[in-house]
Amino acid sequence: MFQEPISSTYTDLTEEQTRDRIRGLKKELGDKVVILGHHYQRDEIIEHADYRGDSYKLAKDAASHPSAEFIVFCGVHFMAESADILTPETQKVILPNLAAGCSMADMANNFQVRSAWKQLGETLGAIEGKIIPVTYINSAANLKAFVGEHGGTVCTSTNAPKAVKWALEKGEKVLFFPDQHLGRNTCANLGIDPETEMALWDPFKPLGGNTPEKLAQSKAILWKGHCSVHQRFTVDQIRKAREEHPGIKILVHPECPIEVVRESDLFGSTEYIINQVKAAPAGSVWGIGTEINLVSRLAKEHPEQTIVCLDPQICPCSTMYRIHPSYLLWSLDRIAAGEPANIIEVPQAIKEPALVALKQMLEL
Ligand code: 13P
Ligand code: SF4
Repeated sequence: MFQEPISSTYTDLTEEQTRDRIRGLKKELGDKVVILGHHYQRDEIIEHADYRGDSYKLAKDAASHPSAEFIVFCGVHFMAESADILTPETQKVILPNLAAGCSMADMANNFQVRSAWKQLGETLGAIEGKIIPVTYINSAANLKAFVGEHGGTVCTSTNAPKAVKWALEKGEKVLFFPDQHLGRNTCANLGIDPETEMALWDPFKPLGGNTPEKLAQSKAILWKGHCSVHQRFTVDQIRKAREEHPGIKILVHPECPIEVVRESDLFGSTEYIINQVKAAPAGSVWGIGTEINLVSRLAKEHPEQTIVCLDPQICPCSTMYRIHPSYLLWSLDRIAAGEPANIIEVPQAIKEPALVALKQMLEL
């Protein structure tokens, strides 16, 4: 989405001035505002967050603060939309920079997913209740609505195994979008064979690039989307890290390709990664495959351990990075002036079915 440039009265401030003004506004606004910060946000944002977490925890944190008038969501667009769907009408959700999207979420749109559903129905017969759609929370609100309309659920990287298990108990197949890697890793871990029981759906090809037979025999149909940050991690990086640091434990996010996950020691959501490090004894050595702001923060917070990022090129999530402290300051200033900006408001017709899918996720 397009973000109007903000005034130089915000962008010309020094880091210290920006920090002081954010702190002052937070004090002034008090309980009226809750600031949420995703683990991939830079330190200069995280220091102001009332709650930090992965997308699952933040979705719950947003829902558990019905009395705050404003939720300032320091994360990306789909997270702010989910917060808006889960919070009461009276509460406004603000995304400090509208250009903070998610390139993976943009890899599946409403038209493409509905077209895929139609093609699947024409090819496999009655699919309602047989194919269960599961959308990763990294998706637009109208896709969550699609899932709600067709008896499916939303999932995050934390609860993807539960979501897929639930879907396969309810129906015969799962249509998982938009991240092929989270889908493949989760399904493979549940015993589904990637070669013979999974199909990859390319939205730019008829039947997603599959034969009717391949679709019929597949238990999981995986959308051809990926995360540009996590797709960078490779098996070679892991092997090199093992050579350089004997005894190193490799811990990666399930948005990484399956060969990387298989080569790792442990894999899980951002919250899982943090908990593994927290629980580890001093002297542990970790090679982590996820976004660099989180890895660097873990290294700073755990000087008693050695923590390195597997990717030597150090790649931040460029869209998360768009939440610069000047934008946070601007958003708080607008709230204090009684003219809140960048309110994320999901239309009612989308909100209702999307809420069904999100509630299903929270019940998993
Ligand atoms: P989490 O669900 O682990 O927070 O991940 C969100 C995300 O965007 C990862 O790339
Ligand atoms: Fe999207 Fe990847 Fe950034 Fe997560 S890390 S917000 S999936 S682009």
